[in-house]
Amino acid sequence: MSRILLGVTGGIAAYKSLEFVRLADAAGHSVRVLQTPTSRRFVGSASFEALTGAPVLVSEFDEDPARGAFPGQQPPGHRPLHHLELVHNAELYVIAPASANTIAKLAHGLADNVVTTAALAGQCPLVVAPAMNANMYEHSATQVNLTLLRERGVTIVGPDAGKLASRGEHGVGRLADPAVILEECEQLLGASGSWHGLRVLVTAGGTREPIDSVRFLGNRSSGRMGLALAAAAHRRGADVTVVAANVALPVPENIDLRRVCTAAELAAVCEQEFAKCDVLLMAAAVADFRPVEAVEGKLKKAGRDRMLLELEATTDVLSALAARRSTGQILVGFAAEHGEHMLDYARSKLESKNLDVVVANDISSPGAGFDVEDNEVVVLTGADEVHLELASKREIADGILDVVTRLRQGSGATVGDDGRAPVRHCLRALPTRL
Ligand code: CTP
Repeated sequence: MSRILLGVTGGIAAYKSLEFVRLADAAGHSVRVLQTPTSRRFVGSASFEALTGAPVLVSEFDEDPARGAFPGQQPPGHRPLHHLELVHNAELYVIAPASANTIAKLAHGLADNVVTTAALAGQCPLVVAPAMNANMYEHSATQVNLTLLRERGVTIVGPDAGKLASRGEHGVGRLADPAVILEECEQLLGASGSWHGLRVLVTAGGTREPIDSVRFLGNRSSGRMGLALAAAAHRRGADVTVVAANVALPVPENIDLRRVCTAAELAAVCEQEFAKCDVLLMAAAVADFRPVEAVEGKLKKAGRDRMLLELEATTDVLSALAARRSTGQILVGFAAEHGEHMLDYARSKLESKNLDVVVANDISSPGAGFDVEDNEVVVLTGADEVHLELASKREIADGILDVVTRLRQGSGATVGDDGRAPVRHCLRALPTRL
C-alpha cells in the first residue's frame, strides 16, 4: 500500500490524528509523522511513534534514525537531509489538523517549521484538513488562503460543522472525520494504487426469489461486506463493478453498479461481466432454491391451514463461472457457516467450486456476520489459512485483498503488499479502538 506522511499542527483536534494513523495503518499504509512544536502541547510524539512504529520529527534539525524510510522500507545507506527525505519519499502528504496559522503559512509559502518546510519541498499530492474556531475559519483571510491553496491543486477536506472545542460553541471548524480524510487520501492515491488497471467484479447483498407478487424467499445479507470489498478495491485503484442484490446501503461513488433481484438476474449479469474481470469477489448470498412457480398476484390464506411451497435448485453461479475461468483470474468465494465444522465446509467449497480463495465466517459468532459493522473471518487458500480477527468490514476487506495481492504476485508467501508483516499479524497487532 502507500507511504503517507502526516503533518500535525497545534489544535485540540490533534488527538483525532491518532485515529487517522490507526485507520491508515489498519488499511495497510505506511505512515510517518511530522509535528509542530505546538502540536506537542496537545498530543505527544510517543503516541504517534507507538502507532506508526517509526520516529516522529519535530524540527528540521532532528536526526531521523530511519533516515527518511517509511515502516517496511530499508533506510538508505547515506545520511539524507532528514526533513526533506521524508516528504520526497512519501506518496502523499496530509496535514491534519491544519490550524489557521499553518494554512496561512502554506498559502504564502512560509517554511518556518518541519511541517511547512515539507509542504514547500514536497512534490506529492498535498491534503489539508483544517480545524479551528468558527470565527477563525470564517474570517476572510482564512477563506482567501484556502482558495489560494485549492487553486494550487491542494485538496482541502472539511472542516465539519458541529460542536466546537470551546464550551458552548457551535459552528464550522471541526476536523473532518479521520475516516473521511483517509478516504480522500486514498482517492488521490488510487490513480497510482497497487490495483491500478485491474478489473474487479464484486457481488453483494442477498437474492430474493418471488413466491407471489408480494412475498419472496430471501436472506439476511445486507451487502455491507461486498460494498466494503468494492470500496477497498477502488481505493487500490481498480476498476470495480458491483452486482448488488437488493442492497439498500449507499454505494461508493465511481463504481459501476448493476442492481439485480433474483439469483437468475445475478447469474445473467455475472456471466456478461466475468470474462472481463481479473478478480471476482463473490460476496453475495445467492439463493440455492427458488419457488418452481411464482404466483401472479397475491396468494390468499382463506381456506388453508397449511401451504406447501415447491422449490427447485438455482444454478450455482460461482461454480458455473469457475468452470470457464481463464488463466490469471482470481476467484474468491464466501462461506457463511455455522459452528465447529466451518473450516471443513469452507475448504470443501474451495475444492468443489474450483476457487483460489474462500472467506469463511462463523455466523454463530456474536458481533460478526450479517448486517453488522464488524466481521471476523478465516481466509483459506490452497496453501494458507489467514485468520482476520474481529474488526470493521473495511479492515477485513483490506485483509482479504492483501491475500489476493499475494496470490497474484504468485509468491504464496505470507508478506503483505509492501513486504509488511503478514495480514494475520497486522490485524492481531491492531491497537484497541480510540
Ligand atoms: N453461490 C453461488 N450460487 C449459488 C449459491 C452460492 O454463486 N446458487 C456462491 C456464494 O456467493 C458464495 C459461495 O457460492 O460465494 C458459497 O456459498 P454458500 O451458500 O456458502 O454455499 P453453497 O454452495 O450454497 O452451500 P451450502 O448453502 O449448502 O452451505
